[in-house]
Amino acid sequence: MLIKVASLVFFALFSVINAQPPMNDSKCPQNDSNCNFIFHDGVCYCFRYIPTTWAHAKETCESDGQNFLSIRDIKASTWLKFNTGSLDFWVGLHKDGDGSLRWADKPYKFDTQGFSDWGSGEPNYSTGSCVSMFTAFSESGLKPKRTWKMTDCEKKFPFICTIPAAATQIHTVST
Ligand SMILES: *[C@@H]1O[C@H](CO)[C@@H](O)[C@H](O)[C@H]1NC(C)=O
Ligand SMILES: *[C@@H]1O[C@H](CO)[C@@H](O)[C@H](O)[C@H]1NC(C)=O
Ligand SMILES: *[C@@H]1O[C@H](CO)[C@@H](O)[C@H](O)[C@H]1NC(C)=O
Repeated sequence: MLIKVASLVFFALFSVINAQPPMNDSKCPQNDSNCNFIFHDGVCYCFRYIPTTWAHAKETCESDGQNFLSIRDIKASTWLKFNTGSLDFWVGLHKDGDGSLRWADKPYKFDTQGFSDWGSGEPNYSTGSCVSMFTAFSESGLKPKRTWKMTDCEKKFPFICTIPAAATQIHTVST
């Protein structure tokens, strides 16, 4: 009963000021000079297609006030793979000075019990200290397999920067 009254009051109020109901929208910055941000699941992604080294990719994201990509769950991973076709790109994960894997953004700790997407035999530190999303094409012509691979940090790949989306309430009032 109380809920019904409340919603009636709500709609009465909106019809009075002739407004649309408030929309909660998660927004990415518009008109950014470096990025055409794409929103997914609370994160704004900035795809950068000019290949560069792992360290320079991190530096570029950070100097633009963004984070170097971390992939912390299957949802984000699936979406990223879908949106990058068979393009190899840097993942913001690397082997730190102390020999452990570390994300480039907070919380830096790599959770070995958490999400990962290693290819077979990975992480293989004999091939490099930085992680890339690697596309393996099979000879049998099956769908390419895309997984994380330890890669020489000096190789050049496209990369992705992120910022958290601002969960703002957009309240459109038209008169
Ligand atoms: C809007 O808010 C509602 C209630 O908090 C939530 O269930 C819904 O997922 C939100 N929608 C978006 C697009 O964030
Ligand atoms: C974005 O750029 C367009 C064209 O330059 C301009 O019309 C618009 O007002 C800008 N929007 C914002 C939010 O700055
Ligand atoms: C790791 O990489 C090296 C160099 O490519 C290779 O010889 C070795 O077999 C790899 N190890 C595993 C476990 O795949």
